[in-house]
Amino acid sequence: MSDPRPIGVFDSGVGGLTVLADIHDRLPYENTIYFGDTARVPYGPRDLAEVRYFAFEIVRYLVDQDVKLIVIACNTAAAAALKALQRSFDVPIIGVVEPGARAAVLETRNRHVGVLATEGTVKSGAYRRAVGSLDAGVKIYEQAAPEFVPLIERGVTGGAELEEPVRRYCDPLMERNVDAVILGCTHYPLISATINRVLGPGVRLISSAGQTSLETARVLSRRGYLRRPEDPEDHGKATYVCSADPVEFAALGSRFLDEEIEAVAPAAVV
Ligand code: DGL
Repeated sequence: MSDPRPIGVFDSGVGGLTVLADIHDRLPYENTIYFGDTARVPYGPRDLAEVRYFAFEIVRYLVDQDVKLIVIACNTAAAAALKALQRSFDVPIIGVVEPGARAAVLETRNRHVGVLATEGTVKSGAYRRAVGSLDAGVKIYEQAAPEFVPLIERGVTGGAELEEPVRRYCDPLMERNVDAVILGCTHYPLISATINRVLGPGVRLISSAGQTSLETARVLSRRGYLRRPEDPEDHGKATYVCSADPVEFAALGSRFLDEEIEAVAPAAVV
C-alpha cells in the first residue's frame, strides 16, 4: 500500500522550512505542500486568538488539498491552536512544542533549560507546560525575542545587526546557568551560529525539527500512510504556497532550505 497524499506543513513565513528540510531528509518519498503565511508574518506579537484564526484558515486550505497529515511548523501557531485544531479536524496534526520540549529534557544535565521564543509563545506558557509534563523538576527560563523573526524574514542571518539583539536576549538565560536552550521558534535555527557563539560551547541548542520529523514518520508508519514508490528514484514532490510575493519567498526560501525552490503559488486562502 502506498499513500501518495501530501504532508501539509505551515508557518508564518520561511522559518518552518527548517522543519520541512528535516522531513525531506527523513521521508524523501513523501510529497509535501508548504504554506508560508508571508502576508501576515510575524505572528509572535499578535494576539493568540488572532493566530488561532489564521491557523484554522490555513489548516482548512491544506485539508482541501487532501493532505494526510499536518505539521504546524510554527511554535506560535502550535501554542495558540494545536489542541483546538486537533479537536476540530480528523486529519492527524503535529505541533513543534512537545517535540522540542522532549528533546530538551533528554539533553539537559543540570535541569536548567532556557527557551528563546516569540512573545506569543512565551505568553502561552506552552513550553513550561510541555517540559513540566515530562520532568516536573526541570527549571524553565523563557525569553521573548521579538526582533529575530523580522530580521530573518529580511534575510539577516549574521553580522552586527544580529549580534546585539542575540546578546541582549541570551544574557538573562546565561545568568540562570542554563545548559540547554530550546530554539522555540522555527525561524531561529537559521541564526543558530550566532546564538551558539554567544551562549558558548557549554550550552546545547535544541531545535524541534528532528523530533518533529521523527514523530511525523511514526504517525505515517503506524497508520499505513507512507508513500512507497516502486522506483527508489521516484522521490516526493515539494509544492510551495505563500500569501505574499511568491518571487521573494522563492529567493529567501531557496537560501534557507539550501535547495532550489522553483515555483511558489500565491495562496487564495487569506
Ligand atoms: N516560526 C514561527 C514560530 O515558530 C515564527 C512566529 C512569528 O511569525 O513571529 O513561532
